Parts: sequence; structure tokens; C-alpha cells
Amino acid sequence: MVETDAFWDFFWEMRLRPMENLGKRAAIQAASRLMRQMARSGRGSGLRLLELGCGEGQILGALVDGHAQLCDRRACVGVDYNPRSLERCRQDYPGLQWLEDDFTSAGYLEALGRFDLVLMVNALHEVFSSTLSAGVVDVPAAKQRAETTLGRAAACLGAGGWLVLFDGLEPPGDPRESLRVRFANAASRRDFETFARQYRPFHITYRPGEGPLEVELPRRDFTRYITKSIFLGKGLWQTERLESYQYFTQDEFHAAFERQGLVIREERTLTMNAVKWEQRVTILTPGVGFPEEHILILAQGAAPAQ
Ligand SMILES: C[S@@+](CC[C@H](N)C(=O)[O-])C[C@H]1O[C@@H](n2cnc3c(N)ncnc32)[C@H](O)[C@@H]1O
Repeated sequence: MVETDAFWDFFWEMRLRPMENLGKRAAIQAASRLMRQMARSGRGSGLRLLELGCGEGQILGALVDGHAQLCDRRACVGVDYNPRSLERCRQDYPGLQWLEDDFTSAGYLEALGRFDLVLMVNALHEVFSSTLSAGVVDVPAAKQRAETTLGRAAACLGAGGWLVLFDGLEPPGDPRESLRVRFANAASRRDFETFARQYRPFHITYRPGEGPLEVELPRRDFTRYITKSIFLGKGLWQTERLESYQYFTQDEFHAAFERQGLVIREERTLTMNAVKWEQRVTILTPGVGFPEEHILILAQGAAPAQ
């Protein structure tokens, strides 16, 4: 049977339906397409995949299971420093290498060898946020740390290999620009105040608007609120409140990729949860919509000079 793109679109649509996070789906589908492309272009089977910050292995596991005939299962590697997540990986996806370590450690990635596909899905923002100290992120140092890690990931690519990055995106424009918003009800307004009090990577500033449900706040802080709002009141909030999804604008991603010898072949910006956000808050400032706050980038190493 010839497995067409339409076959794989349908396959992933069925397989990933229970997976809530749209970002993971987008990353898996993009990586699957690249793997099929590599196989068609004569790379054959035996593809080696590496996921940095693999969590519970859903992404790497789905790709290796879905494309068992294209991968060298034993040479596919997931790295995470969370032992409980790795236990789950080993249970759900046996036969791959699940390594417990800090992938930002100098020399660590080099020692893993070269891969056809390197995945960083919702992981680099944690590297940025891990510089959190005394309640705030030191932004220049954090950006540098994220870029250094990107460079180390790029160095793991074999010839013609691909890096797939999915993560938060800082929207363009002046982050201090002010927005007026109205919460749907008193509970949403209270949630916002909890967010503003407990969110750590940046100080959130706002001032009351006209009615009890209205506030005015910088666009940067609104983006942070709206992308974290789905965790408010849930157990995950205690870790989510310490991480900023946003660290690079699209231009900063472009510049960092270029400096690290990566050529972006494809990219998409996304607004992940607008339907849920609309239930919490309305933006009153005319002409302003919910931000595109995630990005998917597919890149390759720069071809060696002739
Ligand atoms: C938000 S989760 C994403 C997991 C997975 N990529 C996914 O999308 O399902 C980020 C993961 O990166 C891991 N992580 C973050 N920084 C890390 C580091 N420096 N070394 C190893 N793991 C790291 C965390 O433990 C966490 O499991």
C-alpha cells in the first residue's frame, strides 16, 4: 500500500485526538512529514530521533511507534531530568533510550552523537525560565541561555537533519503598549489577581479600568496572563506560574537560529486557546485581537561552504 500524505493526515487525526495540546499535534504532524520526506529522499530506514525535554514521551513515542519501519528504535533518545516522567516513558514506549539528565549541561549533547531529527517541544522556554532568581528572570542572561542550548541542539544534527522547535512566542511591537480588557465575571477577575500576585518570571502590572471587571495592562503582561489562564485553579499552576512561555519574538528566533547555523525552512505562528480565552476575557481596545503566542519552526543545519 502506498501511504500518501492524506493517509498520514488521517492516521494522526485519529491517533492524536485524545491529546489536548494542539501544539504537540502540530509538532508531531510536522515531524512525521519530515521523516517521510527523508525516507523518500533515499535516507531509507534507520532514522535516529532525539527529543530534548521529552516529558512523558508522548511526542517521541508517537513518532517512533507511528513510523516503526522508518526508525532505528534503539537509537532514538529522549532526555528529561524528571525521573517520574521517564518512568512513564519506559512503561509506555519500551525499547527507546530514555535518559535522565540536564540537556543544558556543557558537553552532554555532544556525547549523544548525531541525529536525523531533533525535537524541542515546549522545552526551551523552561531553559529560559530556569534562570529565575529572586522572583524574576534576568532577561538577557536567560535569552543567552536559551540560545546557547539551541546551538547545542543544532550541533546534534547529522547531515541534512532537521530541528523541530515548538514553543511560546513573544508577540511583536512595543510590549509596554497598554490594553483595556473586561473579564467575563468576578471569578475570572479574581483569577487574574491570583495570576498577577503569583506569576514569577515577570512583575505583572495593571490598573483598574472603568467598571469592577475592567483593567488596563501592558500587552506583554496580557500575553502572559492569557497563555497561563488555562492553568489557574489547577494543580499544574504551581509549576506553570514559574515559567514564561514567551522569550523570543519571531525576529529574535530568526536571529538566534541564524547565529546558531540553522536555516529556517518553514514556520507557523499560532494562537492556541482563543476559544477558552474568549470565555474569560474580552479585549476592549479597538483593533486588538488575541496574540499569536506560539511558534513552530522547522530548520536544517546550514549547508557546509563549497
Ligand atoms: C512542558 S514539558 C514538555 C514535554 C514534551 N516535550 C511534550 O511536549 O509533551 C517540558 C519538559 O522539559 C523538561 N526539561 C526542562 N528543562 C530541562 C533540562 N534542562 N534538562 C532536562 N529536561 C528538561 C521538563 O522536565 C519537562 O518534562
